[in-house]
Amino acid sequence: MPFNPYTAQDAFPAVDGPKPIGVVGAGYVGLVSAALFAHLGHQVVLMDARPDRIADLRAGRCPIHEPGLPELLARMAAAGRLTYTTSAHDVAHDQELVFLAVGTPPLPNGDADLSQVAGAARMIAPHLSGHTVVVTKSTVPVGTGEQVLGWLLPGLRPGVTVGVASNPEFLREGEALHDALHPDRVVIGADSDLDALPLFEMYAPLERPIVVTTVRSAELIKHAANAFLAMKISFANGLGEMCERVGADVAEVAEGVGADTRIGPAFLKAGIGYGGSCFPKDTLALLATAAEAGLDFTLVRETVATNERQLERFLARVQRRLGNVRGRRIAVLGLAFKPNTDDVRESRAMEVVRRLMEDGADVRAFDPVAMETARAELPALQPTADAYAATEGADAILVLTEWPEFAQLDWGRIAAQSPGRVVFDGRNCLPVARLQAAGFECLGIGRGGHSLSTLGARRLMRAASFRSLAKV
Ligand code: UDX
Repeated sequence: MPFNPYTAQDAFPAVDGPKPIGVVGAGYVGLVSAALFAHLGHQVVLMDARPDRIADLRAGRCPIHEPGLPELLARMAAAGRLTYTTSAHDVAHDQELVFLAVGTPPLPNGDADLSQVAGAARMIAPHLSGHTVVVTKSTVPVGTGEQVLGWLLPGLRPGVTVGVASNPEFLREGEALHDALHPDRVVIGADSDLDALPLFEMYAPLERPIVVTTVRSAELIKHAANAFLAMKISFANGLGEMCERVGADVAEVAEGVGADTRIGPAFLKAGIGYGGSCFPKDTLALLATAAEAGLDFTLVRETVATNERQLERFLARVQRRLGNVRGRRIAVLGLAFKPNTDDVRESRAMEVVRRLMEDGADVRAFDPVAMETARAELPALQPTADAYAATEGADAILVLTEWPEFAQLDWGRIAAQSPGRVVFDGRNCLPVARLQAAGFECLGIGRGGHSLSTLGARRLMRAASFRSLAKV
């Protein structure tokens, strides 16, 4: 359910009164965290070193596409609970907690690049006062907490003390505010109760489970959770390959497998693989940390390899079907790494486009919100006004992000204007029967057999069984 800032409770009563909080980094995590903390009743200063970003925020412009976030930021700013700054002094001085929410991009060897975390810690150190808990929100490898302490200590003024804590963020893009307000759990990693307590007080009003651990355990939980979810996706993709060989349907198999409560239905959707700013980076970071500890975590290594193979299999299928892609007109629907975001970082769709363009294909792409971010990354990309313009004259249509509106398109109209009549549904998100009726060949992922689960009688049987279960 998307977060609705207009119906949300206005503010939670902050336990022990509002806390003064600094947040360093106005990226995805920093913006959402700052909005949440202000919403929880605290007094938040959000700092970013980029003056243009702070100017945008002060002018009420939200730099990222996230449903509900601009409205909540505006409300919190208007209530005087959230201010923006470029000053290290403002974000650090007289704060009870300072959160570090800066980027930790991967280095070429898979290790997380901690230079921004180090820079932020060194920057705030001379401005801290009294006792402050410095909390890492960015996703970092195990052991970073101790390093943060090492970066802070030399810069502290006499009499000033610090504690370090880890409070990893689990939010999904596109659902960030909902996830922030209704987290499955909050993880607080601190090596002393004194440093864990203010975080516990902050999150208690959410009335969600709070897992209090050591700093090292909390750091590992974040990477482990993302690696496990990525592993589920790669498992579904491996299963899809098997379905194609044995004549089964991966969506049906995943539904049957995921109905076991020990397994769960989430993250078992086969497709062209996982992308985004977290899974690719975090799986590699976990592998790098494991390797430094002398361990080859083969299950995670295979998760990454399956994800790569999935992209190659998809491209090979397109090549096979079209013969040679050189000079062929290929329509791409969807560029974001998933729906409801304009984020194209590590997007599998972008990788497909890049590879097709390298091979000489004439690619026409459309994404409902990610056109601009995609063109910033790939200026040669030919943008189009809508899905109909993108598919005009297409030899093949590739659906690479499961935007719900793609299923609602007038596929009859598209069939009339695209001579190729073949759709590669890279996300299994299209109504196959409707496309077939319009004259398209629709090639999904892991669909070895004819999926019958969308047929009327089976839908009714399924609905009836779930209704009767609900009565028990
Ligand atoms: C993820 C985690 O879900 C979140 O807890 C963490 O804090 C950050 O990383 P996010 O990257 O926003 O969140 O996206 P998510 O919804 O998890 O999807 C990641 C990728 O996996 C997308 O490319 C998506 O298309 C793909 N995916 C997801 C699948 O291919 N199949 C699935 O079943 C689910």
